[in-house]
Amino acid sequence: MHPRELHELRRRVLRDDNPDSSVADPRDEEQTAVHVGGFLGTRLVVSSSWYPSVPPMNPHLVTYQLRYMATDFDVQGRGYGSVVLEAAERVLRALGAEQVWANGRDTALGFYLTAGWRTVEGSEHLSPETQLPHTAIYKILA
Ligand SMILES: CC(C)(COP(=O)(O)OP(=O)(O)OC[C@H]1O[C@@H](n2cnc3c(N)ncnc32)[C@H](O)[C@@H]1OP(=O)(O)O)[C@@H](O)C(=O)NCCC(=O)NCCS
Repeated sequence: MHPRELHELRRRVLRDDNPDSSVADPRDEEQTAVHVGGFLGTRLVVSSSWYPSVPPMNPHLVTYQLRYMATDFDVQGRGYGSVVLEAAERVLRALGAEQVWANGRDTALGFYLTAGWRTVEGSEHLSPETQLPHTAIYKILA
């Protein structure tokens, strides 16, 4: 699967299906990028993309940044997102990751907290891309 094939789900779930929105990360096609998705049959229903990153917290740890975490609307709340998150964490651990981080949408923070992530106090901000409230979040894997 080419990372371009993630754009449709990213755009619909995370960008209000706005055709002008940015749904690509410059690191998407780098060999070190890790894309972990969930499929129902052949249909992509969950996407997550992970990039090696120097994080704003615990910068001494080998860290990947999560972007574009999305579960398609009609199958949200069925546990698929957490299955993908757990699978990604296993893959990243095997690659030597000691920590993961993201700028998490405030409306989704409960999802990450349930999965053992933590928020960084004082990191609340508006995303420059979406203008939605976000908070820096992380999970130590090591
Ligand atoms: C956030 C999102 C990825 C979660 O995926 P999902 O497949 O719906 O989540 P799951 O069904 O696996 O939920 C796992 C747990 O997280 C909780 N959870 C899920 N979404 C939540 C939310 N928005 N707020 C609080 N808790 C949430 C669930 O209740 C569940 O808890 P439980 O195990 O105690 O029952 C999905 O709802 C989504 O794509 N939302 C819109 C886009 C978005 O905000 N993406 C994140 C950008 S940072």
